[in-house]
This record gives sequence, structure tokens and C-alpha cells, in this order.
Amino acid sequence: MSKISLKRIISKKEVSSLLNGLSNFSGTDLCIKDAEQNIIAGNYSCDSHYIYPVDLDGNIIGWVCGEENARVIAGLLNHIASIELEKKALANETLHKYKEITMLYDFSEKAASCLDSKEISRFVISEAKRLIKADNISVMLSNDDSDAFEVITHNGKETYSEEMARLQEGVAVSVMETGKAEIINDIKSDSRYASNMDDLISVMFAPLKVKDKSIGVVKLGSRSRMEYSAEDLKLFTSLASQTAVAIENARLYENLKDAFIATVHTLAETIEKRDPYTGGHTKRVMQYSLAIGRASGLSDDEMRRLELAAVLHDIGKIGVRDSVLLKNGRLTDEEFEEIKKHTIYGEEILNHIKHFKNAIAGVKYHHERYDGRGYPDGVKGEDIDITARIIAIADTFDAMTTDRPYRKGLSLETAFEELKRCSGTQFDPELVNAFLNAFENKLIE
Ligand SMILES: [Fe+2]
Repeated sequence: MSKISLKRIISKKEVSSLLNGLSNFSGTDLCIKDAEQNIIAGNYSCDSHYIYPVDLDGNIIGWVCGEENARVIAGLLNHIASIELEKKALANETLHKYKEITMLYDFSEKAASCLDSKEISRFVISEAKRLIKADNISVMLSNDDSDAFEVITHNGKETYSEEMARLQEGVAVSVMETGKAEIINDIKSDSRYASNMDDLISVMFAPLKVKDKSIGVVKLGSRSRMEYSAEDLKLFTSLASQTAVAIENARLYENLKDAFIATVHTLAETIEKRDPYTGGHTKRVMQYSLAIGRASGLSDDEMRRLELAAVLHDIGKIGVRDSVLLKNGRLTDEEFEEIKKHTIYGEEILNHIKHFKNAIAGVKYHHERYDGRGYPDGVKGEDIDITARIIAIADTFDAMTTDRPYRKGLSLETAFEELKRCSGTQFDPELVNAFLNAFENKLIE
């Protein structure tokens, strides 16, 4: 049934005055009916033999009854209806284009601000599903270390299955190589088809291209036969282009972040080498701290801040003299005051580097005590930054359980008892529990 209503057409002022004019001019009455034979204009008795259909694309949308000249009126209404249909199609197309452009703009804005390739992929899948009918969408990246694709998201779920990637490899590899998007509405008829575990029938592939290089492929498919059009492919390709740029940015950022973390670890290890007996301390403090952080439900941002602060917690020791730092045996009061300054030195060093700023609280306050009797500022309870409260436990636990030249390390059980004894005075009791639970659940080796 046509979506164009004859009643609506003839109710338009210009059409109705045109019909009246023609009726007066010819001196005959007209009767216009809708497709169901209901009179919608005119008052003619309608028992005339002259009845002409008004049709639109093969569908009758009404009738014109009258004298023989009613044929002209029916023809005119046919013409007006087809113009209306065209106008409606154009309006729909414009609206559709507007929605696509808005979506692509929103997508590029969001994708550009995201620096996680998995998140970008999840986002592209949800956006593509809103616009194109599909049962399955996968984002696959080429893997330099293997000849299979890395499937980073599959239908919105994070996954990696080399087998799955190989099965899809035929068409995906060819799209990677040519850099051209493809529609295959019947995949089984394609010579590159290899049975795929998703049982897809109609698929579209678009390359993830950065400049002239393909870094992967996005696949969209339906388990029922579809007629994906060139328009669908164009839209899908635009989405893939935006995705590729966003993923490449995220990869560059991830590489930069890895290089940064590696540099930080090297820096911490270099400092640690001043005291050969503390070998591995920094790494263990980081591992214990991260375990407590995870067990306490810290956010991803806080976990990153915690990792950085844990690795750098004793960086200020670089400013403490060897004769004090490496002294065997009891420190004098003055020497202890000098050691305490490593927290302040740490703050001063990190203050110079923008990327380290959010680690400062963890570094500066890792010797504060929950009861406020710590140093350097005597901050108390939850006023002490959470990363510092965590590092305090991890640092003390490692110091207790590690052998020193002048004493043997405590057993794990004794050290646990010591943590419990100091819970609520030296340490945050909730974080002590989180640490003990992490050990109990074998989250710490
Ligand atoms: Fe320290």
C-alpha cells in the first residue's frame, strides 16, 4: 500500500482550487474516492460509467468519477501523487543523510577522545548496528607476529581466537591487500569462502586504513540473506576509516605509555642498585600494591596512579647520602631525620615532570600512619591519599619479609600477624584486610 494519501493531496489548497477550477471550466461535477471507495471530494452520485483510477507505482490510491473528462483529472492526480512520492523520498533521503553525517561526526569526536582500541571497537560495533542490519560485527587487526588476525572485538565482546581469525582469512586478507571494501551478499558463492563459524550469509568487509596502509579489517554480516547496497558499504567504509584513525592513535598512545612505564622502571631500578640488598624491592612493592588496589576495587585511573607511585615511592632516596642510606645498624636521630627527607625529595623530583604529578601523593605520603603519627606531615586516616596508604602496607610487608645483612626476613605468617597488629594504628584496616584476602585467594605469589 502506498504511503501517499489521495485525501491528503486533494486537501491541499492549491490542488483543491485547481480541481474546482477544472470542474467549473468543464461544467461537470466530479466525485473523488479513496482506494476503499469512500467519497473524499465532490457530490456526484457516482453511478457514472466513467470511473478512472488514480494509481501510483502500480497501486491504486483512489478513483475519479464523472464525465469522460474525469480521465484528465485522474491523470493530473496521478502526476501530483508521483511528485509527492518523489518529494517524500527526497525528504527521507535527506533525513537519512543528516542522521548519517551526525552519527559520523559524533563517532569521530568520541573515537578521537578515546585512547583504548578495545573501547573504540566496542563503540564502532554499537554504532554500525544502529545503522546497518547485522547479526555480527568483528574488528580484526593484522598481527605483525603471526599470519592470523587479532580479533579485538567480536560482536561487541572482547576476544581473541586465532582459529576464528584464520577461518575468515580468505576474504579479509584480500580486503587488506587491495584496500577496497567489499559486499558479498552470498558468501558461499565466493571462491575465497571458507566455512565460517558464524554461519553468515551476507557480509561486508571494510579495510581499516591509515594513510595508504591497511592495519586490519572490519567485518559485518547477517545470518539471513540481505541485499547490502552500495550506500550501506559507503557508510560502513566511512565508519571504518574513522575507526582506523582512532585505533592508530590509541596504538601510538599505548606504545608511548609502554615506553614511559619502561623508563620509569629503569629509573627505579637504577636507584635501587645503590643498595644491593634491596634487589627486587620496587617490583614486589608494585605487585603487592596492585593486588591491594584490585582487591579494593580501585578504578583504572587510580590503578595507573598507584602503579606509578609504587614504582617511584623511594625515588627521593637519590638525595640521601650513601653513608646514611647504606649504614648497617642503628641510625642516629639526625640520620633518621635525613632518611625521612626522602619523601620530600621524592615530591620535589616528581614535581618537575608533568606525567609524574599524579604519583606525588603516593610517593610523598607512603610513610604516613593511619593514626597520624607518621611523616612528613602527620596526615591521618583517610586524609592520607589512598595510593600512599596502600604503598605503606606493601612497602612494610616487603621490608619485613626480605633478608637483610644484619637480620633474616620474617616468615609470611609472622609478617601477616604484624600487619594485623598494626591495623588501625599504622595501617588502614580495610586495606590490610584487602591485602590478606588477596594472599588468601592466591592473587599474590
Ligand atoms: Fe620509603
